[in-house]
Amino acid sequence: MNQLKISHLTVTYNNGFHAVNDLSLDIGNGMFGLLGPNGAGKSSLMKTLAGLQKCSSGRMTLNGIDISENPDYIRQNLGFLPQDFGVYPKVSAQDLLNHIALLKGISNRSERSAQVESLLEKVNLTHFRNKEVRTFSGGMRQRFGIAQALLGNPRIVIVDEPTAGLDPGERNRFNTLLDEISKDVIIILSTHLVEDVRNLCSEMAVMNYGKILNAGKPDELIDALKDKIWMKSFGPNEPETAGYQIISRQMINRQMYLTVFSETEPEGFHTVPPQLEHVYFKTLTQNF
Ligand SMILES: Nc1ncnc2c1ncn2[C@@H]1O[C@H](COP(=O)(O)OP(=O)(O)OP(=O)(O)O)[C@@H](O)[C@H]1O
Ligand SMILES: [Mg+2]
Repeated sequence: MNQLKISHLTVTYNNGFHAVNDLSLDIGNGMFGLLGPNGAGKSSLMKTLAGLQKCSSGRMTLNGIDISENPDYIRQNLGFLPQDFGVYPKVSAQDLLNHIALLKGISNRSERSAQVESLLEKVNLTHFRNKEVRTFSGGMRQRFGIAQALLGNPRIVIVDEPTAGLDPGERNRFNTLLDEISKDVIIILSTHLVEDVRNLCSEMAVMNYGKILNAGKPDELIDALKDKIWMKSFGPNEPETAGYQIISRQMINRQMYLTVFSETEPEGFHTVPPQLEHVYFKTLTQNF
């Protein structure tokens, strides 16, 4: 069992902005979903965990080993698929994987080529091994991205919005792959897709303003909203009901719907079974 502990982590950029703000979180094996709107601080947190940028205060440990103080341990035990991979060099997928394997410290040549081969197979890119990654489609690039993250059999794999821009078929294949590898390692998945967290993650958190606003098991967070989510349709000139916590205004079948969180029944509303999306919006609209 692997254990990632983050305590009182703060990441401050040069302009003084706290992108991660006194954040604490414990994560074990399995898939952990990190949901949050644009600018919440998800990538800042992930890049800091991956050792790509420094924190200004706080502590992160993986299996008791301090991440900031042991960059070699992290390099060998952590795989990262960043939100933006940058520019790919003009080399084949196989050569690039081989190169990244070297950087990760897999110095034995035959071990390296065996790993590269088995990962290409795992992500279904064996056939395209001699093609340059920059000529790949978005879905193929993400599969390559997960292959490079898995080099060296990491104990923790961090993937930052890996399915953004993928078509539904590629997204399914990618999610299946993540699920397959999540048994014995920690996977942290950031996404805007509430549905993916619902389908894949055993634990999750909602993040905004550099903080964790809500965390737990998706089922339990959903259950806690039972009989507390209410909806009604409303027209363009109709006043919104005042005095309730409005969690979303949403167009469904070209009709506007208002969704509120309330312990008691608001007049004119009907109750709806809670979903993870309600957990997300309820958390983001609540006053802290
Ligand atoms: N290098 C930087 N310098 C200053 N501010 C930054 C820097 N990088 C990010 N930020 C700010 O930190 C905040 C968090 O950004 P971050 O990229 O971590 O958010 P995110 O949750 O990953 O968003 P998204 O869902 O859009 O990817 C934003 O307000 C962003 O503008
Ligand atoms: Mg991001």
